Amino acid sequence: MALINHQIRLAARPVGLPTAANWQHTTEPVAQPDDGGVLVKTLALSLDPAMRGWMNEGKSYIAPVGLGEVMRAGGVGLVVASKNPKFAVGDHVSAGLGVQEYLLIPADQIRRSGLVAVDLRLGSLTQWLNVLGMPGMTGYFGLMDVGQPKAGETLVVSGAAGAVGQTVGQLAKIKGCRVVGIAGGQAKCDWVVNTLGFDACIDYKNSSVKDGLKQHCPDGVDIYFDNVGGEILDTVLTRINRKARIVICGAISQYNATTAVQGPKNYLSLLVNRARMEGIVVFDYADRYPLAVAEMAGYLKDGRMTSREDVVEGLSHFPTALTQLFTGANFGKLVLKVADH
Ligand SMILES: NC(=O)c1ccc[n+]([C@@H]2O[C@H](COP(=O)([O-])OP(=O)(O)OC[C@H]3O[C@@H](n4cnc5c(N)ncnc54)[C@H](OP(=O)(O)O)[C@@H]3O)[C@@H](O)[C@H]2O)c1
Repeated sequence: MALINHQIRLAARPVGLPTAANWQHTTEPVAQPDDGGVLVKTLALSLDPAMRGWMNEGKSYIAPVGLGEVMRAGGVGLVVASKNPKFAVGDHVSAGLGVQEYLLIPADQIRRSGLVAVDLRLGSLTQWLNVLGMPGMTGYFGLMDVGQPKAGETLVVSGAAGAVGQTVGQLAKIKGCRVVGIAGGQAKCDWVVNTLGFDACIDYKNSSVKDGLKQHCPDGVDIYFDNVGGEILDTVLTRINRKARIVICGAISQYNATTAVQGPKNYLSLLVNRARMEGIVVFDYADRYPLAVAEMAGYLKDGRMTSREDVVEGLSHFPTALTQLFTGANFGKLVLKVADH
């Protein structure tokens, strides 16, 4: 019996928070690979704030998803048919699978799809979408290359209980920093302190970030890893030290803005403090992912790092699950489970 591929395509570009009207649910038969090709069955997809940006028209670090195209998504899956000697049926892999149940990768698209084997001895499938996957790589290279932590320094990270934030804070602790998180709600703050070992966490939804920074960063802020932008960035800028590094990783507070994006108001603090603010795009570091994976898999194994994934089940739940990222309903890395095996 022919296999059917359920897919979710971009139907219309959103204004503000995406709704059901932005998506189209389609089906098509699954084809078999030709010479050099691989057929992958999706097991789990990474739901990322960046998806919101990919839905917009316009120039960015990557082309927008076209109307009518299967929504772009990274994922982990199982090779179910292969005519490529490097991939065998039964191998677990990660690739840009898209929001669909199957991806047929022709020989000439293997490199472009990012298809690589994943080793489940190093981490679980969901950890390969989190600390060992794209968000973990973002946290690793954003912190190590741009943030350049030194033992004894104070690091503040926003989105602390999320995918990137949990890696950044734990890694900064391992590198000897004082680590203060910023997250929405007491439960998330308790988790980053009690389970991840951060020194403190500021609940920005129920308390003043300004007062929290005064209390928990008595020696100022040497590194700010910014996942949210907006007002929180403005506030942290008032507490930075001389030669501070601000890692611009994301600005989720601005992604659904229907008016002009709010840029940093207090940027003259960079001048006064001889500080710098620098952006990071994780894909620039693809050649070095294996080194970061090896280091962080070691921390997972020896218990110096842990991870949390928030798993939503069922491809059809993609549209509603995605919006969780923008309300903070996700607790840990948001993953969409598509199939058991
Ligand atoms: N530059 C790169 O290469 C790269 C790569 C990956 C990710 N990123 C960026 O890194 C950031 C974190 O991504 P992630 O995958 O780790 O997501 P995540 O933190 O797992 O999930 C998003 C979180 O953002 C917080 N949030 C949502 N709206 C907010 C607002 N208005 N103000 C403050 N916080 C808000 C929510 O947590 P609370 O409950 O705490 O509010 C939510 O859980 C995003 O900005 C993303 O675009 C950048």
